[in-house]
Amino acid sequence: MSSTENPILSLKNLHKSFEDHHVLQGIDLELFPQQSLAILGASGSGKSVLLKLILGLMPADKGSLALNGQKFEPTRQKDSRKLYARCGVLFQHSALFDSLPVWHNIAFSLIMNHKLPQHHAKQKAISLLEDVGLDTSCADLFPVALSGGMKKRVGLARALATNPDILFCDEPTTGLDPIMSNTIDHLIHSLAKKHQTTVLSITHNIISLPLLASHVAMLFQGRIIWYDSIDKLHKSKNPIVQQFIQGKQKKSSPASP
Ligand SMILES: Nc1ncnc2c1ncn2[C@@H]1O[C@H](COP(=O)(O)OP(=O)(O)OP(=O)(O)O)[C@@H](O)[C@H]1O
Ligand SMILES: [Mg+2]
Repeated sequence: MSSTENPILSLKNLHKSFEDHHVLQGIDLELFPQQSLAILGASGSGKSVLLKLILGLMPADKGSLALNGQKFEPTRQKDSRKLYARCGVLFQHSALFDSLPVWHNIAFSLIMNHKLPQHHAKQKAISLLEDVGLDTSCADLFPVALSGGMKKRVGLARALATNPDILFCDEPTTGLDPIMSNTIDHLIHSLAKKHQTTVLSITHNIISLPLLASHVAMLFQGRIIWYDSIDKLHKSKNPIVQQFIQGKQKKSSPASP
């Protein structure tokens, strides 16, 4: 996993267990500027847990992280602020605030962290709605009135609101039909390209990979067991990778309890 550039994010020997369930057993991974990296792994293999460790939503048991070569501890507020100032997150289930209208969901960080006046933040949110292909009339709707695909688009607009240089996407197309999945994959791809955003996606969806990723890391039994460019994936001789891309992953996911 090497490049002539310095990594924007490095993970070294990350471990996480829940009692005797050792979900992550030494994750080493580097994310390079403007790279689009997808972490691939079976359901229950620990992909979302890994993202939660990076975002400081749960503490790692062991290991270290660095942002632009500087060590940081995401569970420390001071450090997490540094990361949050630079990243946007599209959560697996969109994680919108039910009590806020769409525009306020999108503008939340602009108002709370960037202290943008509400009317400016709303204008920015409306322009982001257009970017993600939603009608501006959605701005005043509440999340309960949105379809799954609309929620994903709003989640993506929120993730992009602060012009992040790193975008984290956890299963960006989970629960969507194939056409909407493809639309969301295209959106992430084109918006990331337009804004030169570095993207770390987490997925078990092989079909999404060509749009979401220039590089792929395969998570299995708590470790990254394969990493390479996307065009090497289907040619890989690694039996776990082959098993996964041929859709036989259920037999080989002992990380699940
Ligand atoms: N807070 C928690 N307490 C106990 N176990 C947990 C907790 N969070 C996650 N786990 C366990 O860690 C394992 C990995 O969970 P995780 O959500 O990371 O899977 P995943 O790879 O994201 O799966 P999926 O593709 O279905 O989203 C699972 O077995 C899960 O039950
Ligand atoms: Mg998950």
